[in-house]
Amino acid sequence: VMNNLTTRIFATDQAELDAAARVLAGGGLVAFPTETVYGLGVDARNSDAVARLYQAKGRPSFNPLIVHVGSIEAAKQFVEFDHTALVLAQAFWPGALTLVLPLRRDSAISPLVTAGLETLAIRVPDHSVANGLLAAFGGPVAAPSANPSGQVSPTKFAHVRDLMTGRIDGIVDGGDCGVGLESTIVATKPTPTLLRAGGLPVEAIEAALGYDLALAGDTSAPSSPGQLASHYAPAGTVRLNAQTVEAGETLLGFGPVDAALNLSPSGDLIHAAARLFDALHQLNAMGAARIAVSPIPDHGLGRAINDRLRRAAAPR
Ligand code: TXA
Ligand code: MG
Repeated sequence: VMNNLTTRIFATDQAELDAAARVLAGGGLVAFPTETVYGLGVDARNSDAVARLYQAKGRPSFNPLIVHVGSIEAAKQFVEFDHTALVLAQAFWPGALTLVLPLRRDSAISPLVTAGLETLAIRVPDHSVANGLLAAFGGPVAAPSANPSGQVSPTKFAHVRDLMTGRIDGIVDGGDCGVGLESTIVATKPTPTLLRAGGLPVEAIEAALGYDLALAGDTSAPSSPGQLASHYAPAGTVRLNAQTVEAGETLLGFGPVDAALNLSPSGDLIHAAARLFDALHQLNAMGAARIAVSPIPDHGLGRAINDRLRRAAAPR
């Protein structure tokens, strides 16, 4: 892994966002906050820049990236919207929903972004700094989460600084991410399908559609490449649904339990989602070798929290 770049820190005023946008325009790698997690952005039309991004993350190149744009109109330059896609975009953009849609043949997106697929994952973020950077740049920004592949996603400036300094060209310091979980990913073809649970609850999407989503893995449903089982991994081992704590374990609690760290003592799933990745970073910093996690209800954002925790607990 390269560890020799000077990583410039940008503030969030217009002049600084303009400067960060110029780094993107020059093919550079700039991390920036979104409402979900920090993204590591590059110009999605520049294959050299995308290749550097894969290298900086140490990411398998078969894993395609999400493109970020400022509006539905901008998205229409790159993907085809069917009726369902338009309903979802109008209901939830800007916001924590990524749509996987057919790539337009005339789109300027680098094939490295889609990893050769004929679909593109795209979203409009809901964060003043992300949207300010997109406006200053004026083009599509491909951005995976700003962590080395396989590690916990960053939800605070300090996470990105600690993980990526020396590997990337810049970081926009925009404070903490409000949602704290990656976006929910939905493909609309051949049938509306949930590819990844995330920061927008599935129940909200199903209410907007008036019917249930298919689940990836069902027959004829597309799958999301790169949803590796072992992912979001803290350094320690992880045991889920812990009703009691064994000797040598550090408890990551939820609800009114006595724990080293607690995602939400009051049992609030939104609060727990926002805290989850920071808690995993903190457990790393504490050197926790065996992590036990309290049971988390599997509805609303609990579904995405449990998805991330199962990946953290997967054998590696
Ligand atoms: O909230 C988020 O989504 C964050 C912020 C930065 O926007 N981004 C993020 O990106 O989580 P990343 O690269 O960590 O996750 C992208 C996911 C991968 O699991 C990938 O497989 C899926 O999106 N994906 C991308 N393009 C796809 C496609 N054409 N079809 C199916 N899945 C796709
Ligand atoms: Mg990621």
